[in-house]
Amino acid sequence: MATPILSIENLSKSFEGNQIFSNVSFSVDQGELSAIIGPNGAGKTTLFNLITGALVPDEGKIIFQGRNIVGMEPFDIVRLGMARAFQRTNIFPKMTVLENIVITIITRLKGNLRFVKPWNSSRKIERQAFGILESVGLADKAHQLSGTLAHGNQKRLDIGVALALEPKLLLLDEPVAGMSPDERWETVELIKELWNEMSITMVFIEHDMDIVFGISQKVRVLCYKSLLAQGPPSEISANKQVIEAYLGEEV
Ligand SMILES: Nc1ncnc2c1ncn2[C@@H]1O[C@H](COP(=O)(O)OP(=O)(O)OP(=O)(O)O)[C@@H](O)[C@H]1O
Ligand SMILES: [Mg+2]
Repeated sequence: MATPILSIENLSKSFEGNQIFSNVSFSVDQGELSAIIGPNGAGKTTLFNLITGALVPDEGKIIFQGRNIVGMEPFDIVRLGMARAFQRTNIFPKMTVLENIVITIITRLKGNLRFVKPWNSSRKIERQAFGILESVGLADKAHQLSGTLAHGNQKRLDIGVALALEPKLLLLDEPVAGMSPDERWETVELIKELWNEMSITMVFIEHDMDIVFGISQKVRVLCYKSLLAQGPPSEISANKQVIEAYLGEEV
């Protein structure tokens, strides 16, 4: 049996008395490619914020590689091997595409953004950065200002920035949101390729059910303030409760 890289135990979160979800428990196996789905406002991004340490849960444990990380600083969690790409991208628009990756590598190595001077970067780091840009299909745009990239490419760069942190677990929050249909499938192919080649465990949040059921090994449904269901795509797409609560006629 695969060992979990991440275990969520009885996690609860509310904002000013408004319960978002309670008692959410699940485990993510090492090497898994899985999805989290659920209606707008179900708390999917909040769940990622809790896992990455951006928010602190009211109750519950988050065990990452055998250690409870609740209360740890986000950057310390990154150092343990977790990275995320954001629903709204998190790049530096006034830096070039390459600089965004370089600065992330240096941050990972030095552990503190204050000491980072991208123009001091060594050739080795730059080579590594180019490698990452190649893997996300942006090598030819290395010297372009990030803010001038098309939306789809900014999302790719955000994935590249996350990869520069050399994660063992990568969380992707709506990686294809706002993309054209063609761009979506290109990005999905990219995610699958990265997953295949890099042996990273990946969990993504997504609203497009063709993508969710097309590529995930496991699907978890956040709904009604709890984890409504989890299982392989075939099981989830046939789950009556999930269809009533979220999928409707889509499947
Ligand atoms: N920092 C915060 N302070 C107060 N309320 C918040 C905060 N973050 C999220 N919320 C609220 O928590 C609820 C869940 O939000 P969240 O962004 O996690 O949903 P989501 O499932 O990611 O939705 P979507 O699919 O639209 O991205 C929403 O009602 C949101 O307004
Ligand atoms: Mg969200």
